[in-house]
Amino acid sequence: MEREMILILDFGGQYNQLIARRVRECHVYCEVHSYEKVTLDDIRKMAPKGIIFTGGPNSVYEETSPHYQKEIFELGIPILGICYGSQLMAYTLGGEVKTAPTSEYGHTDVEIDNTSKLFAGIHEKTVCWMSHTDYISALPEGFRMTAHTDVCPIAAMECEERDLYAVQFHPEVVHTREGVKMLSNFVYIICRCSGDWKMDSFVEQTILSLREKIGDGKVLCALSGGVDSSVAAVLLSKAVGKQLTCVFVDHGLLRKNEGDEVEAVFGPDGPYELNFIRVNAQERYYARLAGVTEPEAKRKIIGEEFIRIFEEEAKKIGAVDYLVQGTIYPDVIESGLGKSAVIKSHHNVGGLPSVVDFKEIIEPLRLLFKDEVRRAGLELGIPKNLVNRQPFPGPGLGIRIIGEVTAEKVRMVQEADYIYREENAQAGIDDRLGQYFAALTNMRSVGVMGDFRTYDYAIALRAVDTSDFMTAEASEIPWDVLKRVTTRIIGEVKGVNRVLYDITSKPPGTIEFE
Ligand code: XMP
Repeated sequence: MEREMILILDFGGQYNQLIARRVRECHVYCEVHSYEKVTLDDIRKMAPKGIIFTGGPNSVYEETSPHYQKEIFELGIPILGICYGSQLMAYTLGGEVKTAPTSEYGHTDVEIDNTSKLFAGIHEKTVCWMSHTDYISALPEGFRMTAHTDVCPIAAMECEERDLYAVQFHPEVVHTREGVKMLSNFVYIICRCSGDWKMDSFVEQTILSLREKIGDGKVLCALSGGVDSSVAAVLLSKAVGKQLTCVFVDHGLLRKNEGDEVEAVFGPDGPYELNFIRVNAQERYYARLAGVTEPEAKRKIIGEEFIRIFEEEAKKIGAVDYLVQGTIYPDVIESGLGKSAVIKSHHNVGGLPSVVDFKEIIEPLRLLFKDEVRRAGLELGIPKNLVNRQPFPGPGLGIRIIGEVTAEKVRMVQEADYIYREENAQAGIDDRLGQYFAALTNMRSVGVMGDFRTYDYAIALRAVDTSDFMTAEASEIPWDVLKRVTTRIIGEVKGVNRVLYDITSKPPGTIEFE
């Protein structure tokens, strides 16, 4: 696949995925690679239109800090250094980097020179996000200073003739008011990209290459009903039709009506050509979960049962050539491709490969971020409600029912969650919430309904604003929406007489309750 590419050379910064997302949002394809794993020769072969050096936690003048060969600056490829990347550029090319007596951190007023191509169209006085202690104290030969702050004499520098640019601040972070414009200037004006990263061409090319790769082979996919596995399944169905079999395990811990919704889309009456197997395993799950209250034990049972059921189905199908996994780009970066590879990711189908007789795993979404998966899904004609579905954990409602899981409790949490989703959508706030759901606490309390005393369960509502799910703030849902949801839940969900709203951030809380 011939397409323009920006190489993001990862020096261990915390915002590296964000840089990649911003570049993709400019319709330019990019890849994040650790500086340790990419040689100059690799770069020549990749032939990127531009290179971005990321930030990183080190000081360039320490011997053990990440460095890169000086020859990278001779390739004739435009380079933008960000934070540590800017200091590395200065240091490697003969400038000077020093430690400041105090750090510069947070929103910072910056004066920029907008005759620079990088700052074309940017206000001379703008606000940028800073996070550094080291700074460039002397320019390398041939460079000029293009931005400064009250305390940072060189907040940006460049050598236009060599297409080398550097900024001390973080244009990728939303707090840098005109950061997106700066990155767009880099890829369009400086790297001369045309912006050929569009979901329609990605979808088209992926279908063709999957078809070519798979030939007349058999493909197996574990369909969870979530966005990733649904988009992967549709891509494969368009590529190889009935050579694809999707196994959908309904563990009875899905959201209200979700099992039937998945079947309506992927089952025999749906629009796609594939073999669809639905396993109704509710009773089996409830039986195994009876009396189990410890969260990790519940998770383990739910995961193991899934593997066992999948194994039983896989045995019926026999050997297949390919097993599909819904891996997406953040998983790829986090699993060690980049330098900042520390964050654990949750895998819905972890453990599957060992129980299936297959030759190779295919991951058709491994280059996409979540928002790109959603756009690809819309491009493929998957219903909007499925594509925009809330993130949902593999163990499902099992970890949103505190304590023992029973069919009755599943009903309560399903109905409450349904009302909550319906009212948020009705109020038009669902799109701006990172994740929201209802959980069933294990607390019963006294209430009064009509003339009668009640002693029923409490539902906890949760909604968080988050961009990475690693940290989150409780969302400020309008009071009138919360009141409407509460009234409806208490009126409509039998067994519930109290509704609580969780305002804990993460950390110290987690998003889910178990
Ligand atoms: P926590 O509760 O750890 O959740 O703050 C962070 C994000 O991950 C989702 N989550 C899971 N997803 N399997 C999954 O596929 C799991 O076991 C799991 N646990 C949590 C959670 O919904 C949130 O989006």
